[in-house]
Amino acid sequence: MQQEALQEIHSATTLDALQTVKTKYVGKSGLITKELGSLGKLPPEERRARGAEINAVRSALDAALKEREDTLKRAALDARLASEAIDVTLPGLQLPSGGLHLISRILNDLEGIYERMGYTVIEGQEVEDDAYNFDALNIPWYHPARDLWDTFWLEDGRLLRTHTSPMQVRYMLEHSAPLKIVVPGKVYRYEATDATHESMFHQLEGLVVGDNISMADLKGTIAEMARGLFGASAKVRFQPSYYPFTEPGADFSVWWENPRGESKWLELGGCGMVHQNVFKAVDDLREAAGKERIYEGKTGFAFGLGPERIAMLKYGIPDIRYFYANDLRVLEQFRGELG
Ligand code: PHE
Repeated sequence: MQQEALQEIHSATTLDALQTVKTKYVGKSGLITKELGSLGKLPPEERRARGAEINAVRSALDAALKEREDTLKRAALDARLASEAIDVTLPGLQLPSGGLHLISRILNDLEGIYERMGYTVIEGQEVEDDAYNFDALNIPWYHPARDLWDTFWLEDGRLLRTHTSPMQVRYMLEHSAPLKIVVPGKVYRYEATDATHESMFHQLEGLVVGDNISMADLKGTIAEMARGLFGASAKVRFQPSYYPFTEPGADFSVWWENPRGESKWLELGGCGMVHQNVFKAVDDLREAAGKERIYEGKTGFAFGLGPERIAMLKYGIPDIRYFYANDLRVLEQFRGELG
């Protein structure tokens, strides 16, 4: 029985299994316990020897049980420690990270280019008054050019600005010349959307006012911007165009060594010398607000361009609607460094 019990103790692989063996042999009604209990039935002369023998077996089993229990407990502890071990050399968890939208990046690039030329970056409001979006920009209510800007009108008579040009007026009301500003922001047009038209898009407006500002300054500025955006090979071209708030007005195009091998002139925005009627309207508004008339007779230029258009030309994006459809397959391509 001792041999058998020792065998069972050694083959117990869990503390539960060992407990079962313990109960079977040395528990209250275990086999050894029963043997001890039956000593009384033996003749007195046999009892002593038999008792000693059973007690020896019991001690051997107790010792073996104790040893096995220690071994199993240590193994369980080792297993737990191993499962809790941390490999400090493993790479960390990768958290998904967001990034700036391509249009934000292009606006940031543009702001950097203009800040290096000494411009101040300002922002304006998206809900505008007719007076600033149109009237003061030499576009009275009866002017047919209003049709160039299909407008979202609000119930209170205000509108969603159709361009960033109203900030020319707002800035001149508060500041005096000389001044150099750029105004990034959202604009809205009530138009059917297609691959090149969205009802919301962005513009960057520029305004420079001072004494003896010329068309040559305008051309140099646009050329500098084009090189900043498209690299040293970029060239710019101006074609006469019409904007009620400029005289003369022009549209400008860029050409650069395009990585996709297309080399054609691509139209980027509008510009021109600030119309004297704009300076007059600003002075009228200043006067009405109790301020000095300081703009009539000044010279200046203004320009406006769309970052969506720049992105489409630079990266070959075929449809403006991709920018705002929230399709991560499109947006995630432009999270890294822009080249
Ligand atoms: N505001 C004009 C537009 O939205 C662009 C422009 C700005 C043209 C400044 C000339 C001067 O189309």
